[in-house]
Amino acid sequence: MMPSYLAPAHEIVARCRQLAVHTEEPGFVTRTFLSEPMRCVHTDVRAWMEQAGMSVRIDGAGNIRGYYAGTIEDGPRLMIGSHLDTVPRAGAFDGILGVVLGIGLVGLLNGRRLPFPIEIVGFSEEEGVRFGMPFIGSRAVIGEIDDAILGRLDANGLSVADAIRAYGLDPASLGQAVATERTLGYLEFHIEQGPVLESLNLPLGLVSAIAGQSRLEVRFHGHANHAGTTPMHLRRDALAGAAEWIGAVEREAIATTGLVATVGRIEARPGAGNVVAASAVMSLDVRHTDDDVRSKAVTRLLSCATQIAARRGLTSTSESQLNQPAVAMDENLTERLARALANSGYREHRMASGAGHDAMIMAKRMPAAMLFLRSPGGISHHPDESVLPEDVAAALATGFNFLEQWERHG
Ligand code: HGY
Ligand code: MN
Ligand code: MN
Repeated sequence: MMPSYLAPAHEIVARCRQLAVHTEEPGFVTRTFLSEPMRCVHTDVRAWMEQAGMSVRIDGAGNIRGYYAGTIEDGPRLMIGSHLDTVPRAGAFDGILGVVLGIGLVGLLNGRRLPFPIEIVGFSEEEGVRFGMPFIGSRAVIGEIDDAILGRLDANGLSVADAIRAYGLDPASLGQAVATERTLGYLEFHIEQGPVLESLNLPLGLVSAIAGQSRLEVRFHGHANHAGTTPMHLRRDALAGAAEWIGAVEREAIATTGLVATVGRIEARPGAGNVVAASAVMSLDVRHTDDDVRSKAVTRLLSCATQIAARRGLTSTSESQLNQPAVAMDENLTERLARALANSGYREHRMASGAGHDAMIMAKRMPAAMLFLRSPGGISHHPDESVLPEDVAAALATGFNFLEQWERHG
């Protein structure tokens, strides 16, 4: 490994940790769509982008966009990016690393211009935490923000459009967020967020495809009653029904190869210890690399909810929030990345991604490829999420080789 990448790698890790302090929840990393802490993130990221020689703008969806001109005016650009929002109580690297590493890569050019422009994008929202709708930032870049998305409400009854205006942006300017220019493609560096690369003792992985995902809200409706006076056989307990169903979700996923299914959030109403629950609202997240397996599993899980509810004198309803098909990464762009990986002295490993990424949205409009970095302990969506500086250096070496390869051979 050329030692010249280790110093910038340490700086990239330090910058990710610096952005982690911009949070809605002191002591944790929580930063949802266009919340106040994103302003501080934009201030820091803007400074780093400008220092690297980029012109910077914030688009109508709150994406921060750094443009590094090439020697050929308005030539097709290479886009490099990831997201700057987080899940609640996140780590410091999910998404953020891809933006900061992209800026670091441009910084390594040290003012040298390539025959193509580079645009670094920090997407404003990928996780879908605040509005139950992921990928708002990258959807804006491919021109897929519609009134239905703008009208989605958060827990406080504020819409996506309200959030954009509250940030000082104008939803009417969303058209300027759309990447209409010709592009060479989109490249995303991201932590693996799982245990595979660590188990193979590899620093980097090439993403072959991104699993499809279904996100739903599932509700059980029963009847509130007194916890002390209502005999067990006379109850219509929505929370007990939900608990039985959550066990069935787990059993279904264990029984189906390659399927993961998660109930990550539950809310019981009225939510008092001495009241039998009248309703229980849950999130359901189902993923698989084969869309047919995934959709059949969702159908089975919803019919299981109906059966459990009927047996308990309850009713169950569901609302689909996301039906995102699996997306294969672009073969040609991934081959370029594979050559850069090999030229930098790293062993190739191709793997599917169980996590969703902005690359699956950008892939609708341009060739997309992803490079994974090892996740120590396989931990992510957790404060202990981390990345090794030597793996960041490996990604920088590979990314720089990728740029120089394109400069030499087009
Ligand atoms: O949930 C995911 O797959 C990603 O973290 N957005
Ligand atoms: Mn994430
Ligand atoms: Mn992510």
